[in-house]
Amino acid sequence: MKAWRAALLGFDARRQPWRIDDGMLVVQHGRILELGPYAELAARHPGLDVVDWRGLTLAPGFIDPHVHFPQIDLIGSPGPGLLPWLQRYTFPLEARFADPAVAADAAGFFVDELLRNGVTTAMAWGSSHPVSVDALLREAQARRLRMIAGKCLMDREVPEAVRDHSQRGLEDTDALIRRWHDVDRLGIAITPRFVPSCSASQLGGAAELARAHPDVWVQTHAAENREELALVRRLHPQARSYLDVYDAVGLLRPRSVLAHCIHIDDQDRRRLAQTGAAVAVCPSSNLFLGSGVFDFDAARRSGFAWALASDVGAGTSLSPFHTMLDAWKLARLGAGAMEAAELWWRHTAGAARAIDLGGLIGNLAPGLEADFIALDDRATPLLARRTAAAASLDEWLAAMIVLADDRAIRHTVVLGEVARLRCAG
Ligand code: GUN
Ligand code: ZN
Repeated sequence: MKAWRAALLGFDARRQPWRIDDGMLVVQHGRILELGPYAELAARHPGLDVVDWRGLTLAPGFIDPHVHFPQIDLIGSPGPGLLPWLQRYTFPLEARFADPAVAADAAGFFVDELLRNGVTTAMAWGSSHPVSVDALLREAQARRLRMIAGKCLMDREVPEAVRDHSQRGLEDTDALIRRWHDVDRLGIAITPRFVPSCSASQLGGAAELARAHPDVWVQTHAAENREELALVRRLHPQARSYLDVYDAVGLLRPRSVLAHCIHIDDQDRRRLAQTGAAVAVCPSSNLFLGSGVFDFDAARRSGFAWALASDVGAGTSLSPFHTMLDAWKLARLGAGAMEAAELWWRHTAGAARAIDLGGLIGNLAPGLEADFIALDDRATPLLARRTAAAASLDEWLAAMIVLADDRAIRHTVVLGEVARLRCAG
């Protein structure tokens, strides 16, 4: 059993944030045993060694439900929009991930960067080469990090070096499921890249595999960019909408996580809600590629699950603060608004729920896995000055979202152990 003394921050069942200024968090066997005011808990556990992190705030580790690990090496590559960006930068880079040494080097760096940014669970994409997923999951396993990953299925409209063969891609995915799914904290996602890159037979095969493995995730992209939409209309003239292509084969289901979903309508939103599929909203990516503005209000009205994600490398940072700030700005640009507390929830407890891991991760509560971060709200002079002046928890959360970055993550704790980075910094 071990314990920490610090301020504590979490969310209640109504998604409202709470804070205990002088708190104690007790961990046993990698799970949170109990938490509450220090005075109360310390009296109940006389003699228990308590790590003194007063001055810091313990908060749930962030969850990034959509991120591409090979693309850690192309953040900030300029392009006039999604399709040219994929052709010019993404596919040539991902072609290099057929080499296990390239994949291992990037995977180790990537996982350390997640931890440095306070991300304790990710749903990540490899390239189309299964060795890239092996490399990523090995690095995550070594750090006991919760990681869901998949190899891209992409059997058409992409360069030879990253194209897989329809059936072979499915067999490789099946082998990854047998090798990694549910091993330690690891999971596999069936990963059709997006509609244009998958033949009808590959999409159908992906759906069949998903039906055979209801506890395996599905991850894909959908309705991100207008040029992409026009291409999908040409390739699938019978489909009512982009999402309808996935829906028709049965790829919308619980544990399916679709990135973007910017250019969708209310019928698509209803289908997301009815099928239990979730959306990963990627604001920094949408801004960087000029893809469009996610309709936050319509999403809230429709009741489907959605969470915030980095989408590195179209996304411009692994820092959840950066992502939350861009979501804030995007929401202001559209018709709606996002409160700081909701932004934070959608990167922690709400993200856990969206990927069907609520009750296991994403919050500070008894029984959950002890994945948390220690935040330093005095990490920079301006952050210290601004957070000291915050008159409420909402103001504090907003100030952190606007002004904090990886410097405010003093420690990342995974299953009750302080993470030690291997490659970075
Ligand atoms: N659509 C298909 N592939 C990708 C990708 O790698 N990034 C983004 N943002 N969209 C995609
Ligand atoms: Zn993506």
